[in-house]
Formats: sequence, structure tokens, C-alpha cells
Amino acid sequence: MKAFAGILMGYFIFDAIVAAPTMNSVTYGSETYEVAFEDLDNLYDYDEKLYIDQAQAEIGTVLPSITQAIHLSSPLPEEHEEEASTPKLFDGFSPHEPEVLGPHAKDLPTCLLCTCLGTSVYCDDRELEVLSPLLKQTTHFYARYNRIKKINRDAFAHLDNLKRIDLTSNFISEVDEDAFRNLPQLQELILRDNEIQQLPELPTTLKFIDISNNRLGRKGIKQEAFKDMIDLHHLYITSNNLDHIPVPLPESLQSLHLQNNNILEMHEDTFCKMNDRSYIRKPLEDIRLDGNPINLSKTPYAYMCLPRLPVGSFF
Ligand SMILES: *[C@@H]1O[C@H](CO)[C@@H](O)[C@H](O)[C@H]1NC(C)=O
Repeated sequence: MKAFAGILMGYFIFDAIVAAPTMNSVTYGSETYEVAFEDLDNLYDYDEKLYIDQAQAEIGTVLPSITQAIHLSSPLPEEHEEEASTPKLFDGFSPHEPEVLGPHAKDLPTCLLCTCLGTSVYCDDRELEVLSPLLKQTTHFYARYNRIKKINRDAFAHLDNLKRIDLTSNFISEVDEDAFRNLPQLQELILRDNEIQQLPELPTTLKFIDISNNRLGRKGIKQEAFKDMIDLHHLYITSNNLDHIPVPLPESLQSLHLQNNNILEMHEDTFCKMNDRSYIRKPLEDIRLDGNPINLSKTPYAYMCLPRLPVGSFF
């Protein structure tokens, strides 16, 4: 079993790395992407050094039991030593960490309850009802498919290295206003498939936000919420109850998905500048407004600066 797991893990890492260059043309198109696919997709926007974490994410998603086996038995296959040298298993439970563990794991340290690989923590599908305390060095945190209802103020306190939080498919309805505020390195926040009504303040370092399939309504997003995120390139707010486009959108934005909301109208300068007809907004290539009661023909000048027309109803 050990050897088999080793070979399989090697294969997945190898596969993820080899497959990478050929998939450069894959876009973030589909909203119904599979989790595994999403992870592959995400490969291309981030540093090469993250490939390993991504490959692990793949394993964590697809083969939780095998990852467990590796977690317990350790050394990674020799032939992939180079790739595998970065992640070291850390059994880092400190008795001084605040303890807010789930009901299924009263006294279990996070790295027994979850799988810790390098500085990534995988808590997918563990029936968690509250977030486990994380070690300070954690960079990537996954707790998809659990039963978390609330994100408290101190859930991610002092996690200065955290880059990615993925809480897809929980029952989150309440998020403390300060929950994400003090995460100086946070780049990706994935909260899709929850019940969030009010988006808290977010760090301006974010590059990728997915809050699709929540309950954000008219007042769910604060005014100018994304304005200062100068590196934001993907903003996915599909299938909520928004009645407006959350402007201003940062210049860095490449992909804006707002399909299946309740957006009725927009302005001619939502994307472009009416007082500067030579302005071109090259990065913003992918706008989805389909599934909204908006007639895009009413604002014919609103798309002049864009490389492509938005997807939506022009009739
Ligand atoms: C959409 O707007 C255009 C331009 O104002 C108009 O001609 C068309 O009838 C509208 N379509 C609908 C379904 O209201």
C-alpha cells in the first residue's frame, strides 16, 4: 500500500507539472467547474513554486485516503525528490494555540484531524462545524465540504503567511467584519456555495475572489468594496441576489462573473470612461452578465473600451 501510494503520488505530481504548459489556454470560463479542475486552472496564475501545493491540492481532493497514508508513513518517492523537497510534514501542534476544535475532535491537533503537507492544511470533508486553529506558518488552508456556519473574528488571527483560504461548500451564514481584515498576504479567497449575506471587509492584497452561490443582496457588498484591490484579476459573484455591478472595478480585473443575479441596469461608464473615448481597458476580457434582467442594448457606449462584449442579453 505504501509503495502504491508513493507511485500514485509521484504520478499525480508529475502529471500536474507535465500537463501544465499544454493547458495554458484554459480559461476560467465555466462556473460549473469541478473542484479538481479549478485547482488545475489556478495553476497558471501563480508562481511556479506553487505547483507543488497545487499538486497536493489535487491529491487532497481526489485521494484523501492515500494522502492520509502518506501523511502517516512519510518519505516521499525518491525519483521526485526535487519536487518533494519543499513540503516537510510538520506535526505542528502547539498546546499554546487557542483551541476551538470541532465536536468530532475535542482534543485532536489540527494536523491529526486534517492533513498538513508543507505549509498547506487540508481539512476537506471532515464534518467540521468550527474552524480548527492553524499554525502561524500556514500558507494554504482548505476546509471544503464541511459544516462550518460561522467565521469568527479570531478565526485567522495572526496568520501572516496565509495566501489562500478555500471554504467552498459549507453552511457559512455569518462572517465577522474583522475575520479577514488583517491577513497581509491573502491572495485568494474562495467562499463559494455558502449562505453569506454580508461580505466583510477584505484585504486589498486579494487577486482572486469567488463568492458565487451565496446570498449577497442589495446591501451584501459595501460601496467601493473592490476599489483598492490593485492586483485583483478574478471576481466571481455568480448566483447571488445582487442588483448592481459593484463599481469601481480595479484596472487589473480580467474576469468578472455576475451571471444569475438581479442586475437591472448599468451605466455607460461602469467599465469605460465616457469623458475619455481613447481609454482602453485591455485586461477585462471576460464579463458575464447573462441570467440578469438587464438589457445590454440600452447602454451601447458602455463596451467601447473593452476587448470583448460582455456575455448577456442584447435584445
Ligand atoms: C432593449 O433595448 C433596446 C434599445 O433601447 C430596445 O430597442 C429593445 O426593445 C430592448 N429590449 C427589450 C426586451 O426591452
